[in-house]
Amino acid sequence: MVKICGIGAGYVGGPTMAVIALKCPSIEVAVVDISHSRISAWNSKKLPIYEPGLEEVVNQCRGKNLLFSTDVEKHVYEADIIFVSVNTPTKIRGLGAGKAADLTYWESAARMIADVSNSNKIVIEKSTVPVRTAEAIEKILTHNTNSKGIKYQILSNPEFLSEGTAIQDLLNPDRVLIGGNQDPEGLEAIQKLKAIYAHWVPEDRIITTNLWSAELSKLADNAFLAQRISSINAMSALCETTGAEVSQVSLALSKNTKIGPKFLNASVGFGGSCFQKDILNLVYICESNGLTEVANYWKEVIKVNDYQKSRFVHRVVTSMFNTVSGKKIAILGFAFKKDTSDTRKTPAIDVCKGLLGDNACLSIYDPRVTEEQIQKDLSMGDVEWDHPIHLQAVSSTVVKQVNVVGDPYEATRDAHGICILTEWDEFKTIDYERVYDKMEKPAFVFDGRNMLNVDKLREIGFIVYSIGRPLDQWLKNMQIMN
Ligand code: NAD
Ligand code: UDX
Repeated sequence: MVKICGIGAGYVGGPTMAVIALKCPSIEVAVVDISHSRISAWNSKKLPIYEPGLEEVVNQCRGKNLLFSTDVEKHVYEADIIFVSVNTPTKIRGLGAGKAADLTYWESAARMIADVSNSNKIVIEKSTVPVRTAEAIEKILTHNTNSKGIKYQILSNPEFLSEGTAIQDLLNPDRVLIGGNQDPEGLEAIQKLKAIYAHWVPEDRIITTNLWSAELSKLADNAFLAQRISSINAMSALCETTGAEVSQVSLALSKNTKIGPKFLNASVGFGGSCFQKDILNLVYICESNGLTEVANYWKEVIKVNDYQKSRFVHRVVTSMFNTVSGKKIAILGFAFKKDTSDTRKTPAIDVCKGLLGDNACLSIYDPRVTEEQIQKDLSMGDVEWDHPIHLQAVSSTVVKQVNVVGDPYEATRDAHGICILTEWDEFKTIDYERVYDKMEKPAFVFDGRNMLNVDKLREIGFIVYSIGRPLDQWLKNMQIMN
């Protein structure tokens, strides 16, 4: 029986290894992590992450060919193939701080693999890493190995899943990318990994390349996606002042087969653990290679994203007579997108901090994010790098101005305004007449996801701002006054 070990039981490692176990009953899959709390959650009824369909997959395989353990060394020692899905955050200090990827976790995983192995291994980069990381990993493995004659093959097999649809993405991927050395041993390793995916992925969707192309493709992929969002968000600002509607512009663009329909939804800004981190990493690599113009090009994607978040805060404040001080504002949605409880780099953090900076009292409702997480996110500082992060940590007194509540009606009662920050489906079916009756007047809705029926809300009596839609007379007047 082939044995696989997955190091890192996070958003990528957990679901990815669970799907491999589901689709390859003849393979034994051990998922290991240094975090005891994470592993015990994977072994419990309440999994550490929320993903539609994940529980069903785990329940089908756990205890059969899928196990979760903190005994990292034992499972690495036993494995033939090791997937490394540890976190690769942005470095916060030292050389490259604020841009470069922090490979501390990867390096310690590689050193541990070298320490405990006494048989040949295929080591797979599942984490997103800078281009040419495999070269460094190979050096760590070969120079630190205790037993003589052990051979390692490093493959790059970046993960393209999106949170909220991870299981669907893993079961039916657009493509699987495998990069490896182009010598006979490297090609053999590529074939071994290909054979695993071939259990459920059609062969024409499995792309093989050299190592560096695979590593760079992952960074390029995220940069292109984020660039599309910044492009449509830049258009949304222009729509608001010209009378065009961004959803109509998106529709028109989407019908151009050269452009296609995805990633054209204007929003309050992109969030999530990947886009900003991976673009900063790309910027750093470009700068390190003397490619200043290329680096500056990608930096703009982040600048527009920061602009979109601060533009939203500015709109809320100016619309409400240029002050939100002491006013209750309902925040609907805190996760970085729907169908996940993940709040990493969610635009809600910056928007909430902006409103708190103007002394607003926030009442926050999100169907999946816990109060503890929200309070933690709002009290933690962000670090200012050379891209314009506009907002810093808020003080503990300000955090007391934050109330996290269990339903949207409670959040909106006596509020002056509502900000929609995550596109949860349930926000479409709220009884907005009931909400309006219990709010202070004039009552405002600021739709940061362009998801509500603006005409209906206006009929009820709300003053409505929706990203990328023409401003109504009220908003225009307030804009002129301020
Ligand atoms: P995560 O923080 O959720 O999980 C990483 C896990 O690795 C943690 O549980 C941590 O305890 C564990 N870990 C760290 N060092 C370890 C070690 N030496 N030994 C054992 N366990 C260790 O991160 P994630 O969101 O799953 O992302 C992992 C990687 O995948 C990152 O490089 C990320 O850029 C990439 N990625 C993420 C996504 C996504 O949607 N989250 C998608 C594609 C790629
Ligand atoms: C992203 C990539 O899509 C995925 O391929 C990669 O593996 C990991 O990073 P993820 O961050 O999980 O996935 O979610 P994604 O759906 O890409 O959304 C990222 C952010 O962009 C969210 O805040 C989302 O709300 C926002 N977004 C997305 C928009 O604002 N508009 C869009 O049209 C699409």
